[in-house]
Amino acid sequence: MTTPDATPKAMDRIDTEFDIHSPEYLEKKTAYEASIRSRCPVSWTEKYDGHWIISGHHAVGAGLRDRNRFTAAKYTDEHGKLKGGITIPTAEGYRALPNESDPPEWDGYRKLVSRPFSPQSVDKLRPRIAELADEVIDHFIEAGEADFVMQVGSPVTALITLDVLGLPLEDWRFYAERIHQTFSGVPGGGDSEAGIPGIQKRLAETIAARRITPHVGVLDDLIASEIDGRPTTDEEVKDLIYDILVGGFDTTAGLMAGTVRYLEDKPELKARIIEDEDFRRTATEEFLRYISPAVGLAKTATQDFELEGQQIKAGDKMWFMYRAANWDPEEFENPEVIDLERSPNRHYAFGAGIHRCLGSNLARAIFQTVLPRFLERVPDYVVDQERTRNYAFACVNAGFQELRFTFTPGKKVRETPILEEL
Ligand code: HEM
Repeated sequence: MTTPDATPKAMDRIDTEFDIHSPEYLEKKTAYEASIRSRCPVSWTEKYDGHWIISGHHAVGAGLRDRNRFTAAKYTDEHGKLKGGITIPTAEGYRALPNESDPPEWDGYRKLVSRPFSPQSVDKLRPRIAELADEVIDHFIEAGEADFVMQVGSPVTALITLDVLGLPLEDWRFYAERIHQTFSGVPGGGDSEAGIPGIQKRLAETIAARRITPHVGVLDDLIASEIDGRPTTDEEVKDLIYDILVGGFDTTAGLMAGTVRYLEDKPELKARIIEDEDFRRTATEEFLRYISPAVGLAKTATQDFELEGQQIKAGDKMWFMYRAANWDPEEFENPEVIDLERSPNRHYAFGAGIHRCLGSNLARAIFQTVLPRFLERVPDYVVDQERTRNYAFACVNAGFQELRFTFTPGKKVRETPILEEL
């Protein structure tokens, strides 16, 4: 037990009132994270049945390094309650793969989806990403105003992802709006096609149709593939595709939107980003660190272990705060300052350990291709502050509900559009 006048001993638990879903967190964000981190890189809160808060840079890396110490899968406890998973509280009604699986199953699932997102495969996508960037810009360039999130960041990411997977490009809005609605808190329709259930239903229907009439692409490869010497099930294919769609759209869009807002009144930086590829690459890492589109996610301990002097017990839920780690002054000098030449930059924007982002190469390629193209074609954009709104949730992803801007209208560059309507 801690006595009021004693300095906490190494093993004393640091209790906080931290509530990841509180309005206070939404309002104060990084300041709230800093106050938790400065008390202790590993602390505890009683909220949501109690969980650890891992907020220090070293603690996040150390906590996720050993794949056998935690589970990311959902499970039912002895009272029939759903537990585990990557959210707090545990979300019901769907499973994301490989994100919510553990070794040895995780190895098989990850292997099934790794190749199309490897550095080599993604490098080959760059010309197509450039084409899609021009395509989405063409759709609003004559208007003089647009929303960066749903007219640039989200469609470009969605279109290239659907292209890789072999899903119909026309479906981009169906998926993107539901994903955006889920992460940002934009009110959506209340019908059975809304939100995550809508995505699940559409994917299940598409997979069933492809079993009968196969096409070409990653989706069809997954349908025809085997895992552990048996054919993959439709359910597994759906959960794998679902993770890829949900993991990429709003995170990549949020990264680009935050960057565009930051660069608005910085013409010299804009010019360097357009002209200097090395600078653009280093800058990408700093925007990833500073914006940290994936703010935090959960895992559950499967064994007792010590983390930064705190005793974690098997069954304890742990909230890994990637953004708090990315703003840790123990690792980053002046973390609140954007230094586009920061090096080294060992951020955890893509997580750490086995679940580290499958799409990190794709996200970087999209950012590095779309951003200069947007800055070249829309050089004088002015962000409409009145119509720029942050997400209504604080803890999982960071981004904007919408980020509207005005600009001098320009000309279309593509002779034939890929899609008649976006
Ligand atoms: C800037 C953009 C992105 C950010 C910040 C981001 C962030 C993350 C983070 C933090 C994780 C770790 C999750 C955990 O700890 O459980 C993760 C995993 C994952 N991401 Fe991303 N992501 C981005 C883009 C993408 C894209 C474009 C895709 C599409 C391919 C994608 C697909 C996934 C998948 C499938 C996982 C799960 C991997 C596994 O469990 O093995 N992400 N991402």
